[in-house]
Amino acid sequence: MKKILVLHGPNLNLLGTRQPEIYGHETLEDINNRLFERAALEGWEIACRQSNHEGQLIDWIQAARLDGTAAIIINPAAYTHTSVAILDALNAFEGTVIEVHLSNVHKRESFRHHSYVSLRADGVIAGLGSQGYHAALEAVMRQPG
Ligand code: DQA
Repeated sequence: MKKILVLHGPNLNLLGTRQPEIYGHETLEDINNRLFERAALEGWEIACRQSNHEGQLIDWIQAARLDGTAAIIINPAAYTHTSVAILDALNAFEGTVIEVHLSNVHKRESFRHHSYVSLRADGVIAGLGSQGYHAALEAVMRQPG
């Protein structure tokens, strides 16, 4: 079965209660459940993980190199703007990488305009709320091969 890894970075465990005017009212569990349902319908295996720790995210990216994961959908949250280490880990992963942000980072503070992860991402989606994860999932599942 083809595998997708969905990674959520720091503070995304608070979705639903964290600045809902920016990040929406859905919880991370709501988002993950819908991704599971959609992927299962198409016969894909999906693992959704969240961590507030940079090293944990890197460990999961490294594991994905070895377990047949075809694509990583990642919202690195604040690490987007700071983490060369996550960029390096993604550079060592050979599958597809899609970067997702709930908010339109380009409409926000200037420190959110730069993304290290975008240097590696095959696609970037920002500002569509939780729909961004679904758009990323559809794109991955429709890739040839
Ligand atoms: C975010 C945008 C980041 O700038 C921020 O630090 C987040 C969430 C988003 O999904 O819009 O935590 O990645």
